[in-house]
Amino acid sequence: AGRPGLFQARLTAEAATARFVEGQDTPILAYNGTSPGPLIVAYEGDRVEITFANRIAGEQSTIHWHGMPVPADQDGNPMDPVAAGADRVYAFELPEGSAGSYWYHPHPHGRTAEQVYRGLAGGFVVKAKADPIPAAYGDTVLMFTDLRLAADGSMPDNTMTDLMNGRVGDHVLVNGQKNPKLAMARGAKRRLRLYNATNARFLRLAFANAAMTVIGSDGGLLEAPVVAEEILLSPAERVELVAAFDRSGTATLTTLDYDRGWMGPGRPTDAGLTLLTVDVSDAPAEAMPPLPERLRPIAPLGAPTVSRRLVFTETMAMNATGMEMGFLINGKAFDMGRVDIVARAGDTELWEIVNQADMDHPFHIHGTQFQVVERERDGKVAKPPYLAWKDTVNVARGETVRLRTRQERPGTRMYHCHILEHEQLGMMGIVDVQ
Ligand code: C2O
Ligand code: CU
Ligand code: CU
Repeated sequence: AGRPGLFQARLTAEAATARFVEGQDTPILAYNGTSPGPLIVAYEGDRVEITFANRIAGEQSTIHWHGMPVPADQDGNPMDPVAAGADRVYAFELPEGSAGSYWYHPHPHGRTAEQVYRGLAGGFVVKAKADPIPAAYGDTVLMFTDLRLAADGSMPDNTMTDLMNGRVGDHVLVNGQKNPKLAMARGAKRRLRLYNATNARFLRLAFANAAMTVIGSDGGLLEAPVVAEEILLSPAERVELVAAFDRSGTATLTTLDYDRGWMGPGRPTDAGLTLLTVDVSDAPAEAMPPLPERLRPIAPLGAPTVSRRLVFTETMAMNATGMEMGFLINGKAFDMGRVDIVARAGDTELWEIVNQADMDHPFHIHGTQFQVVERERDGKVAKPPYLAWKDTVNVARGETVRLRTRQERPGTRMYHCHILEHEQLGMMGIVDVQ
């Protein structure tokens, strides 16, 4: 609506109900009545003005624009809460080169995990003005969330196991539905944007009867397509791919087991869940244009002038009131009044994320996209197979990930583990960009 180049919308967070099981209404939280919230599609060069109406009874909230290059004071930080019943406008520009698969979710202090698992999250796709991917492939967002239902259809609160491991639901949903169907013609290709919007579930995915080619990461297209047999998406990661359906019949997107480290009993095994079923017709599709061999150049971030080391640990101690857990970065739990890192806008920094804990921790920085340089485990160093813009990267237990990052704008930015229960329990810090 409005003048060209101006994207305006209103997002109202409120209580709603959803029907996951016949005859049972589940109380959820929703943006504009739906979970996931409305898919936002805007273009590079647009100015975005989104009015957020917080109608969650008795709870503050924010909207955080995960992965997007928005000014710090528009990024829905926990220090900028919107009170229950209040409205605020988030306004920002989408610069050239920012096309990518982003998302939005709440980020209020201490309540992010719960507001997200109750249903608040949505996709935000920024499209390029000149897109090298053929329009004939379409463009489909698949947002994965997961859900746990009690016998009465309600969503139970987090248990001790959830707090330790992050909340893993019993049902994986795609765009809010269980195992939705997609119809394709034989020989057709489809551009898919896969989002892991779960609090804590690792999704190791394979496509039976379809071929996957990765074309993009969190922050937009790769330099060139890469054929993939499987994809690992840790919480908050996204991947853009082209799926080719060359055989008629049924193609299914399914899960493989991935051991991300688990504390206590009840490690969920995810092998063999069907997330999406594609009916591929016998009738052939109209001929599809080929995928270009080059997608776009990615300039590598230059030599870092500063280096930082962030050590992730878990602690567990018994005290008078029971078990106390800590999820720490450099020995400290998050403190909203403390600046952990002071950085300069425009500087390229090397961040070394050292996971000394017993679980994988997906690491995320606000406000920018970074480049993974290498991973080290058991003394072996490996370079990533391709250059990519990322805002979230999994750091496996016992692993060190080195990345180059640069913040372009001054302001306060968060960095944290994107297992949202870990973020809530302290695995988060503040970088003050000057
Ligand atoms: Cu999805 Cu602090 O972020
Ligand atoms: Cu974020
Ligand atoms: Cu974590």
